Amino acid sequence: MAAFDVARIRQDFPLLARKERGHVLAYLDSAASSQKPQCVIDTIAHYYREQHANIHRGVYRLSEEATAAYESSRKSVASFLHAPDARGVIFVRGATEAINLVADSWGRAHLKPNDEILLTAMEHHANIVPWQVAAERAGARVVVCPITASGEVDMAAFVKLLSPRTRMASFVHVSNALGTVNPVVEMTRLAKAVGATVLIDACQSASHFDVDVTALGCDFLCFSGHKVCGPTGIGVLWGRPELLDQMPPYQTGGDMIQKVDFAGTTYRPAPERFEAGTPHISGAIALAVALDYVAKLRPDAHTYEQHLLARATEKLRAIPGLRIVGEASEKVSVISFLIDGAHHHDVGMLLDADAVAVRVGHHCCMPLMKVLGIPGTVRASFAFYNTEEEVDRLATSLVKVRAMTSR
Ligand code: ALA
Repeated sequence: MAAFDVARIRQDFPLLARKERGHVLAYLDSAASSQKPQCVIDTIAHYYREQHANIHRGVYRLSEEATAAYESSRKSVASFLHAPDARGVIFVRGATEAINLVADSWGRAHLKPNDEILLTAMEHHANIVPWQVAAERAGARVVVCPITASGEVDMAAFVKLLSPRTRMASFVHVSNALGTVNPVVEMTRLAKAVGATVLIDACQSASHFDVDVTALGCDFLCFSGHKVCGPTGIGVLWGRPELLDQMPPYQTGGDMIQKVDFAGTTYRPAPERFEAGTPHISGAIALAVALDYVAKLRPDAHTYEQHLLARATEKLRAIPGLRIVGEASEKVSVISFLIDGAHHHDVGMLLDADAVAVRVGHHCCMPLMKVLGIPGTVRASFAFYNTEEEVDRLATSLVKVRAMTSR
C-alpha cells in the first residue's frame, strides 16, 4: 500500500502521537468517534479568536462574516452529499437528533393508525427508539426486517415486508456493530416503489466513502460530524426541501419564525425552520473543513481502509477460539468478534493494557445482539489514519488474551 502515505497523514492528527504504557496508542475505535486533524482544531480556535458573533441577527460586519462562514458550510455539506440544493441541509447535534427530528416532525404530519415503519434488525438504538415513540403516538407499527446468518439484510424478507402500509423505511447504510454495507440503493428503490418515504442513516458510511443523496434516491439522510473528523455536537440531516417545507417544526424559538404574534406564529421554510435558537456555529464551520479534508483523501483512503480490514480479518481468523461476528460479503472498517471463554469486557480491558483502544458491548444495538444470541462483542474499527502495525498489535495482543483466558 505504498500509494497511501499514512505516516504523513498521521502527522495531521496530534492525538495519534499519544503514548500509553510505553506504546503509541492504537486507536481502533473510529466507528465510535474519529480523531481530529489539525486543520479542524485550528478552525475552531480561529473562529473563536477572530470570527465569532451570533449569526443571522447582526447588521454589523463581524456577524455578517460569521453568517457567511456558517452558510458557506451548508453549501460545502450539500456538495459533500451531492445534494442539488443546500436548503435541504439542516445542521443538527448529530444523527440521533436528525432521526428524532424526522420521526417527530415528519411522523406527526404523515403517520396514521395502522401505518408501518420498516426498520432492519441491525439498526442502532437511535434509528429504533424515535420510531417506537412516533409509532405509539400515531397508532402505527414498527416492522423489523430480519438479517441473515452472515449479518446481511434478508432482502427476500425486506421485499415481503414492504406493502402500501409502509409509510417509512429507515435503515442504516453501514452497520456500526458488524460493518455490513447494505444495498441501500436497491432498498430505497423497493421502498419507494410501494410509496414509502426513505431515511438512510449514513453515520458509518459518510466517513468511509462517497455518499450521494441524488444517486441513492432517498428522502432523508443523516450523519454525525464527529465520525467524519469533525467536532462533536454537530451533524447533518439532509432532506428533500419540498418535504421539509411541509413538515411542522421540531423545536421552536428564535431564527425559525417568519412572524410571531400572540394570535399565532408562522414559520420560515427549511433550513431555518429546523434550526431554532443559536446553532453550533463553530461546529458547522469546522465540519465543512473536516469534510473537505476527508473528501480530498478519497478514494485512496477507502482502498487503504479496506486493506486494513482485510489484513485484520485474515489475522483474527487465524486465532483459535476467536469468532468474527458479521461476515457480510461487503463490509467496511469494522471487525466485531468474540473469544471463547472470555467476556468481551475483559478482552477490551486486556487490549487496553497493551494500549489498543476498542469498543466492547452491544454498540447501541441491543435488538441485533438479541438476534445474534450474544450480549455484545469486541469491536475494532479502522480509519485511514490507522496502520498495519496497529492491526498487527491488535492480533498479537489478542493471541496473548486468548492464551490468558483459555488456561
Ligand atoms: N454509534 C457509535 C458507535 O457505534 C457511538 O460506537
